[in-house]
Parts: sequence; C-alpha cells; structure tokens
Amino acid sequence: MSIQGLNRQNLSDYTTEVVRAGRDARPEVKSVSLDGSDLVVKDYRSGKSLFGRLLGRFLVLREKAAYECLDGLRGVPHYYGTLDAYALILQHMPAQRVTEVAPDAVPPGFFELLAEIVDNLHRRGIAHGDLHKLDNILIDENAEPVILDFTSAIMTGSNPLAVLLFSALCEDDWRGVYKLKREIAPEQLTAQEREFLARRSLGERLFRRVREPFRTLIKRWATD
Ligand SMILES: Nc1ncnc2c1ncn2[C@@H]1O[C@H](COP(=O)(O)OP(=O)(O)O)[C@@H](O)[C@H]1O
Ligand SMILES: [Mg+2]
Repeated sequence: MSIQGLNRQNLSDYTTEVVRAGRDARPEVKSVSLDGSDLVVKDYRSGKSLFGRLLGRFLVLREKAAYECLDGLRGVPHYYGTLDAYALILQHMPAQRVTEVAPDAVPPGFFELLAEIVDNLHRRGIAHGDLHKLDNILIDENAEPVILDFTSAIMTGSNPLAVLLFSALCEDDWRGVYKLKREIAPEQLTAQEREFLARRSLGERLFRRVREPFRTLIKRWATD
C-alpha cells in the first residue's frame, strides 16, 4: 500500500513502535513501516481534551507549512503529508537524541554540519524557535546532525509579528547550537560563541518572559 493509503483506521496495522507516548499538549510519536518506507506519525489526537485537539490541529498546520518550505534540505526529515487534521507523516530518521549519546560519539565535524543546517533553515526563511530544547537535535547513523520538531517555527514575512520575531528566534536557534556545544564539546566553543551565550538582548529576555508562562497555560488547558 502507498503512503497515501495510510489512514487512522489502518494505522495500527503498520505501527511498529510507539516512540514517545502523548501527554498533555505533547503528541504521540509512532514508528510506522509501510511498503519499504520507514515513517513517523506525529499525532495530536489520542488522549487529548477538546482544547488539546484544537491546539493539535493548529500545530499540525504550522509544522506542515514549515516542512513544506524545507523540502529537500539535508538534515531535516522529509514531510510526506498529513494523516488527517491531527497528525503529520514524516520520514523516520534512523537517529538518536544527541544528548543521549556519549560525547565521544559526536565527531568534531558535527557542529560544522549543524551550523550549516541552521544557516540553511534561516536562508529559507524559517527560524526553528525551539532548538534550545536539545532533544530536537538528533545524531544519525553517519554521526551527522538532524533537526526536527518545527511546531514553534516562524516563517519570515508570514505576518507582521513574524517579521518582528524572526531575528530574535534566529538568535535563539544559535543559542541552542552553542548550548549543545558547551555541553558536549566545550573545547570547540569560540570566544565569540561563549560571549554570545553569556549575553541576552532585551528583546530576547522579554520574548522568553512572555513565552514561558504562555506555554505553561497552554499545556494546562490541553490536559484532559
Ligand atoms: N522523523 C523522526 N524520526 C525519528 N525520530 C523522531 C522523528 N520525529 C520525532 N522523533 C522522535 O520523537 C521525539 C519527539 O518528537 P518532536 O517532533 O520533538 O515532538 P514534540 O513537539 O512533542 O517535542 C523526538 O525527540 C525524537 O526522539
Ligand atoms: Mg520536540
């Protein structure tokens, strides 16, 4: 059967593993094997309140738009489409969270490639917006970086607020990269990167101050 034939009724027939259970506003992530393709279904439907499901629909639309812009970019999963309004179908990346591997399994060139991917995202007009959560950065079988989870992504020019926030979110992405470097390979941090980590612009501080309570509130509303 082709990927287009996958639907909520037959999903369990092709599911091989629940990678991450859903909880509160968090989607369930399942591995799916279909016709020789390894896929991931990121699903906001099961076990959610009405608000959680509505929020899920909104987040699916956001993430879908970002993945469509990033099509073909190295280090980002391929987006296959949606299962329905609540779930995305993505390429399964044979990779693990970079924070869960031994630091010596991360080769020196990893951070150069990671910087290249982040730069490419920004060139396509996408700021990830959630890279400081380091579990959105994976390391694949060739020890190369993978970036996923574009639910907080902002597309430059999509609305006046996005125009205002884009550069702050790009900075936030770099902060995530340097933060990871500080954890895994502090000897690779340049003096400029250290300095960048030590300072925070007023705009960024204000943005974070508003974002965190907002996220907590949303999580509370999304819980059954
Ligand atoms: N395409 C994928 N390939 C491999 N693993 C994935 C993929 N998408 C998600 N995962 C796994 O599921 C976890 C949660 O996915 P993520 O998209 O970050 O969800 P959330 O928005 O809830 O943070 C990731 O940290 C990763 O371990
Ligand atoms: Mg995530």
